[in-house]
Amino acid sequence: MYTEDMKTLQAVIDGLVAHVALLDETGVIQLVNRAWCRFADDNGSRLSDYGVGSNYLHLLSGAAQNALAASKADPDAGFAIAARDGIYAVIQQDTERFQLTYPCHAPHEQRWFLLTVSRFDLHEHSYIMVTHENVTTLKQSEQVIREALVGTVSALSDMSEIRDPYTAGHQQNVAALAREIGHSMGLDHNELEGLVLAASIHDIGKIAVPAEILTRPGRLGELELRMIQRHSQLGFDIIASIPFPWPLAEIIQQHHERLDGSGYPRGLSGDQIRIEAQIIAVADVLDAMISHRPYRPGLGAGAAFAELQAGRGRSYNTAIVDICSTDTFQAHLTTIYPRLFSAG
Ligand SMILES: [Fe+2]
Repeated sequence: MYTEDMKTLQAVIDGLVAHVALLDETGVIQLVNRAWCRFADDNGSRLSDYGVGSNYLHLLSGAAQNALAASKADPDAGFAIAARDGIYAVIQQDTERFQLTYPCHAPHEQRWFLLTVSRFDLHEHSYIMVTHENVTTLKQSEQVIREALVGTVSALSDMSEIRDPYTAGHQQNVAALAREIGHSMGLDHNELEGLVLAASIHDIGKIAVPAEILTRPGRLGELELRMIQRHSQLGFDIIASIPFPWPLAEIIQQHHERLDGSGYPRGLSGDQIRIEAQIIAVADVLDAMISHRPYRPGLGAGAAFAELQAGRGRSYNTAIVDICSTDTFQAHLTTIYPRLFSAG
């Protein structure tokens, strides 16, 4: 019965385009398909019997160790360990399915594969199915779309620079401050990218506000204030129709919301406000107070930090304000505002 199963399974997996290995419940490779063997041949694999009879978990641990021996920072080691742990989790039935997209370095091209691990039972035997699919084309088109969208943000940012150099400089500073805060808060690479892009166009809605109002010194009237305050909703309206892979429109819309619900446009409070918007809110206040404005000189870093402390936990997220008070962050300020902090 068991041997019969193996024959059937071999025929089934041989018909698949993906590279497939079937493991037993201890991780030992029982069967591999034709695509697996062809790939091994094409890439000069030195595994005997294409790995059949070897424990896949051990092979991956070995691959991670080899990668680390070649270079301490080799990202391949991380992928090998993640793959091993994912397969183990499926074996242990901690999860039904595990997936991981990973780069596969070939001498002449960068390829990407999608690893999928799942489990099935057949005639009292459990098998772990490991498939590797080549998703390079998909990954490349994703990359092209991503670059086009990043280019769109950069074009929008250039557009605001042409109209209003002050706002453009402000957005760049806020993006640099937000990156530092986001990094310290442990945002992942993708979230950090979205945060920085949103920060770099967070005031895009100001293109709809007359320049005289934006740069006018002195107190603004009620109507003028309302015109300026519309910019976060207008920013949302401008960006919302572009299908960014990050929630840029929402982040921009929420950058003047305050923790206690006193902000605008929607009066959101607490967790209703996206963390990226909470970060930009703090970075925005810092830069607005530190930098010179067309109608007044900068108020200085001391005044900016006093404002953050005064609003800590009320207007501004406590953790974010605390990050801004660290020595690391303070040291970073000198690189964002070199002129302000240079001696003399
Ligand atoms: Fe703003």
